[in-house]
Amino acid sequence: MTKKSRLLVAAAAVLPVAVLFLAASPAPSDGPKYTSEGRLMFPEHYREWVFLSSGLGMTYGPLASGEPRFDNVFVNPSAYRSFLETGHWPDKTVFVLEVRQAQSKGSINRGGHFQADVAGVETHVKDEQRFPRKWAFFGFQNGAKASEARAQDDASCYTCHEPKGAVETTFVQFYPTLIPIAKQKGSYQPRE
Ligand code: HEC
Repeated sequence: MTKKSRLLVAAAAVLPVAVLFLAASPAPSDGPKYTSEGRLMFPEHYREWVFLSSGLGMTYGPLASGEPRFDNVFVNPSAYRSFLETGHWPDKTVFVLEVRQAQSKGSINRGGHFQADVAGVETHVKDEQRFPRKWAFFGFQNGAKASEARAQDDASCYTCHEPKGAVETTFVQFYPTLIPIAKQKGSYQPRE
C-alpha cells in the first residue's frame, strides 16, 4: 500500500466517527435535572446564568402581592447562546423567575427601592420528550432542593403564557435585549 492510500484508508476510518460525534448533540450540562419521582431539581447555579430582565411590581399573577416586588429572570447559558443564533428556545431550556421583596429603608438609601429576600422561585422548562406540550412549569418552596410534587398544573400557567408569550410560551416581549433578535429571526409574535 502506498503512503497516499494508507492515508486515505485512515481518513475513511475516522470520518464516520467524526460524523457520529457531530450528529449526536449531548445534553447540555446546564439543562434540567430531575429526581426519580420527576420533580425538577433546584437549579442551584442559576445566579451564574444569563440575566434577562427585572420587573418591578408587575401584576399579572404568580406570587403577586399587595407590596410591589421585584422579579429577576435568568436562563441557562446553553439555551441563551442557541437563542442568539436561531431566535428559538432549544430543547433543555430552563428559565428561572426569582421573586424578591422590595425594600426602601436601609443603609444610606433615601428614596426608591432595592431588592431584598427571595419570596419565591418558579421555573419554566422545555423538555420535548418528557412533557406532552414540550414545556412545563415547576415551583419551589423557599430553600427546597427539588420542586413541588409535580409540574404546576399546566392550566393555571398556560392560560397566560400560551396566548400572551411573544416567543413560544415565553415572555420575550419583556426581555429587552432579546426582542430585536427574535424580530430579526422571525420568531417574535407581537402580543397585546
Ligand atoms: C396572567 C399572566 C401569567 C400567568 C397566569 C403566569 N405567568 Fe409567568 N410570566 C408572566 C409574565 C408577564 C412574565 C414576564 C416577567 C418579567 O418580565 O419579569 C412571566 C415570566 C415567567 C417566567 C420566566 C420565563 C418566561 O416564561 O418568560 C417563569 C419561569 C414563569 N413566568 C412562571 C410561571 C408559573 C410557574 C406560572 C403558574 C403558576 C405562571 N408563570 C403564570 C405572566 C404570567
